Amino acid sequence: MKKIQILPSILGTDYDALPLVCEDFEKAGADQIHIDVMDGIFVKNVSFSPATVQSCKLSSSLPLNVHLMVNDPLDLISDYVAVGADTIHVHIESDCDIYTTLRKIKDNKKIAGITINPESSIETILPLIDKKLVDEVLIMTVNPGLGGQEYMPEVESKISIIRKRFPHLDITVDGGINDISIGTAAAKGANRFVVGSYLFSLKNFQSGISNLRSIAELNYNHSP
Ligand code: DX5
Ligand code: ZN
Repeated sequence: MKKIQILPSILGTDYDALPLVCEDFEKAGADQIHIDVMDGIFVKNVSFSPATVQSCKLSSSLPLNVHLMVNDPLDLISDYVAVGADTIHVHIESDCDIYTTLRKIKDNKKIAGITINPESSIETILPLIDKKLVDEVLIMTVNPGLGGQEYMPEVESKISIIRKRFPHLDITVDGGINDISIGTAAAKGANRFVVGSYLFSLKNFQSGISNLRSIAELNYNHSP
C-alpha cells in the first residue's frame, strides 16, 4: 500500500495569517503544505508568489508542495527552488516546453510533478511518466483556479488508469476533497490528497486530518 498523505491547501489564507496557519497544520499532523500559484493568465485569478513559499518555509518544517497554475512555468522554477519548494507541479496544458521544465525541476533535485486538468486526455502525460521525467502526478478533480468547488467524479477513471500502469507512483488529487470524495478517490488508487475549504470549514485541523487519513487508508485500493 502506498503511504497516504494529507496536504492542506493554504489558498484561502491571508498572507499575514500564513505563519500561524502553517504552524497549526504541522501540529495537526499534515504531511505537506500545498501552495497554489496562479498568474491570472493560465487561470483567471492571481495568487501567491515565492514570498509565500518563503513564509511557509520559515514557519514550518513540512515539505512544501507548489502547484504552478501559470502559463509559462519554466522561468519560475529557479525562483521557487531558491525559496525552498520541495515539490513543483507544472500543468501539461501550460504553454512551455514540458520536457525542459520537468528536467529543470529534477536537475535542481526537487520532486517533479505533472498536473492534468479534468478535460485533458490522460494519454498526454503517459510518455512523460514512461520517460521517468515525473515523480508524482497531480490529478485535478475540479477546474483549476478556485477553491471551494465540487469534486468531479468523472475524473476518477484517470486515477485508476495511472494507478494500474504505475503502481509505485504517487498520485495526488486536488479539488473538492472532503470526507466523502477522499474515500472514492482512494478507492481508485490516489494516495495523496490536497484539502482546502473542507479543512477550513472544520473547527479542529487535527481531528479533521486524522479522520480524512483514516477514511483514505480504509478505502485505498492499490489494484483498482
Ligand atoms: C484549485 C487549487 C486547489 C484548491 C483546493 O485550483 O488547485 O489546490 O486550493 O481547494 P478545495 O479543497 O477547496 O477544492
Ligand atoms: Zn492546487
